[in-house]
Amino acid sequence: MKTRAKLQKMKESNDKITMITAYDYPSAKLSEESGVDTILVGDSVANVVLGYDSTIPVTLDDMIHHGKAVKRGAGDTFTVVDMPFMSYHISREDTMKNAKRLFQETGAQALKLEGAGEVLESIRLLTQAGIPVVGHLGLTPQTVNVIGGYRIQGKNKKDAEELIENAKRVEESGAMALVLECVPEPLANLITETVSIPTIGIGAGKHCDGQVLVYHDILKYGVDRLPKFVKPYGNVNDLIHSSIEQYVNEVKEDIFPSKEYAYDMDEEEIPSLYG
Ligand code: KIV
Ligand code: NA
Repeated sequence: MKTRAKLQKMKESNDKITMITAYDYPSAKLSEESGVDTILVGDSVANVVLGYDSTIPVTLDDMIHHGKAVKRGAGDTFTVVDMPFMSYHISREDTMKNAKRLFQETGAQALKLEGAGEVLESIRLLTQAGIPVVGHLGLTPQTVNVIGGYRIQGKNKKDAEELIENAKRVEESGAMALVLECVPEPLANLITETVSIPTIGIGAGKHCDGQVLVYHDILKYGVDRLPKFVKPYGNVNDLIHSSIEQYVNEVKEDIFPSKEYAYDMDEEEIPSLYG
């Protein structure tokens, strides 16, 4: 099992950290078997599994349900679970209750929270209570309606400086790692050099300490359009389409099930319909 200390060491020795999202038992099991360092139960479950068009509708119970399934398949892979929309903003008490449930019931190794500002207090509270926290800056999908869409963040000097300051604050609040989503490569590089905790990039270029991508995106599985920063390493869509089309055709054409897929019985045991 990777630990916070081991992930920190990886940054220091320039050993890249790999992370992939997973949402259920098979995606976690296949990711674990394939040798990823860390798994993220992302609230992107909203988009790629549940069919919503943003992460906003996802509930704490949804994240617990998917987190538990992932942990059953993840073996001893370090697993991070996203705290969903508004589950760490209402009050200290509400934040702590939600974090306690998500951490205890899923058995995750860490929780991920988007943003800085008021959220820094939540990062501090959770860390002090014994829950490791991963921060998330840049494009933060839970605030898509405030930041004005799914677009690259920190492109001008003022925004870039603010992002660097927020990254420092996230670290100071106790976060163990920081996801950087959709920020220009040179800015992600600066942040990676500025903070001492590992940065894990998605659409943030090659200088981060690690990379994360969405399972369904890497595999082209149930998704049609991919963002610029995703490299598709497989094409599960084609595999599933051709497999299901062939199944449908073979049933229609009386090809399936052939003898090898059917159970037989002794001739004399077959009852006669006509007595
Ligand atoms: O939910 C998610 O998949 C994420 C990653 C994009 C980092 O938060
Ligand atoms: Na997320």
